[in-house]
Amino acid sequence: PTILVLNGPNLNLLGSREPAIYGHTTLDDIRCLCESRAAGVGLAVDFRQTNHEGVLVDWIQDARISAAGIIINPAAYTHTSVALLDALSATALPVIEVHLSNIHRREPFRHHSYVSTAAVGVICGLGATGYALAVEAMAGLLRQAGT
Ligand code: DQA
Repeated sequence: PTILVLNGPNLNLLGSREPAIYGHTTLDDIRCLCESRAAGVGLAVDFRQTNHEGVLVDWIQDARISAAGIIINPAAYTHTSVALLDALSATALPVIEVHLSNIHRREPFRHHSYVSTAAVGVICGLGATGYALAVEAMAGLLRQAGT
């Protein structure tokens, strides 16, 4: 099975973007981490990033036929997007939400996530490790579901 790992706006800048908050790991490093962790649990990864909300919605809709589960870091759209929530809710797929930083330790506007009600689980504050943990958790969810 293939899992979709989606990344929202500005995550293409990881490595140089606010390193005090997001560290020096690049998105390409995170892709490699996800791919190797997924290979270890028998999964393939389709890893993507876009700065555009509607593109994320399209990818989430397409995942209904092409993926077994979705791991998503919606970045700033986490805190604004009912469209992403609706798209994720419309898939019957398991969803895990990931954030590199601990959003609860940051500005109050980051404390609320619109997408969390569509997620099985949420991981935040553990940096790139959170993605690896999400891949492992997704493998467990898919095994349970018999996928
Ligand atoms: C983020 C947290 C968001 O608040 C922020 O807008 C991001 C990244 C994270 O991974 O910590 O762009 O999703």
